[in-house]
Amino acid sequence: MYTVIQNVFLCASSFISSSVICPLNVDPTFDIIPSSLFAGHKIVLPPLPVDTGLKKIPDAAHPFKAPGPTDQRGPCPALNTLANHGYIPRTGIASFEQILNGTGEGFNMARDLAGFLAGFAMLARGNAFEDLLSIGGEDHRVPPLPGQIDGPGRPGGIAKHGRFEGDVSMTRQDAALGDDRHFQDSLFDQFLAYIGHFGDNSPVTGNYSLVNLKVMQEFKWERFLDDQSRDPKLSFHAGRIGSSYNEAAFILKFFANGTDETLSIPSLGSIFRNQTFAPNWWRRASPGDVALILATASDVLSAHLVQPGQNAPNLTYITDPPYVGPCNAAYFDLAVLNLPYTYTTLINHSTGLFAENVKTLLGVVAGAFNCTVIPPAGPVGT
Ligand code: HEM
Repeated sequence: MYTVIQNVFLCASSFISSSVICPLNVDPTFDIIPSSLFAGHKIVLPPLPVDTGLKKIPDAAHPFKAPGPTDQRGPCPALNTLANHGYIPRTGIASFEQILNGTGEGFNMARDLAGFLAGFAMLARGNAFEDLLSIGGEDHRVPPLPGQIDGPGRPGGIAKHGRFEGDVSMTRQDAALGDDRHFQDSLFDQFLAYIGHFGDNSPVTGNYSLVNLKVMQEFKWERFLDDQSRDPKLSFHAGRIGSSYNEAAFILKFFANGTDETLSIPSLGSIFRNQTFAPNWWRRASPGDVALILATASDVLSAHLVQPGQNAPNLTYITDPPYVGPCNAAYFDLAVLNLPYTYTTLINHSTGLFAENVKTLLGVVAGAFNCTVIPPAGPVGT
């Protein structure tokens, strides 16, 4: 638990590195910032879209442009694609509201699901005071958090390993094994092999050319077995299992063409490899929400059950004890054990803008799980 000693230490150490961010007469809630330096930005849920049906994507206002040298891109194929088409800022530095609007417009992702993803990412890897998140790595446009409450550095962006980016991805390596940020041809080739073996037939793209549930079940299982056998640091606790199987469900439910709900190899490659929408691609015909994704993820997992756990250095997989805590194991792991405890100090002691934003996002994240907010208790600066 957070103690006064930790508070003093935190501010003392941040004073050494930057007297501007944590001045001598520091507010213990970390919420007093010289306004000329950091204005802050109030996070407000944007209005729900009225237009939520089938739609050809991209429209004329959102042409593909390859990212420039300072544009951020990262481990999420969907956010990269949205940025390449300007559905979220092409810089790859986006606000919570921009991500909700962009994922809604481009993929018809429902508010509860996008709110959870963007809210959790902002708290874990962004700046919730400035309302800025990098969809790639650390960036000078995203300043360190007020009072350096998550350590002295800038937020890592969603590409930073841990908290959100994790092991057993489909097209990125585990961080301990290689490149966990960029698309990996070797992994995508394995994905293609599974489609070639278990996929459905299409009169247009050929036999064994469509992604289906069986493909995802077998490919995800193979990805787990592969990483489990090679990664001495494999971490696959409840939160990461949840995210990882949800991402498999995203492929089935969001990458498929909304016209006939099929996902062909060329469409899959377009988004994953080229980070652009396939020609004549339509977003899904109704918003895809948390319930849809949880049900689909559970279908994917059901073929080969994997227990939450982690590898010992000798590559033995150690399963976690059964979860007996409040609400839901994945929520508890992600939002309580992973987010820094200093957010709890902040919301308990301050009513300022930073605290308000953190409260808003914690509420959105908990709401997606039907949980009431449990204050974060995780380590700082990880
Ligand atoms: C709403 C904001 C979103 C955030 C903050 C976000 C964040 C992330 C992050 C951090 C990862 C890397 C996880 C890992 O280590 O595997 C990831 C992967 C992924 N995301 Fe997103 N995402 C968002 C929206 C979406 C949407 C709208 C879709 C689908 C339309 C999507 C599909 C995927 C897929 C398929 C992967 C897995 C890539 C792989 O395993 O190779 N994401 N996302």
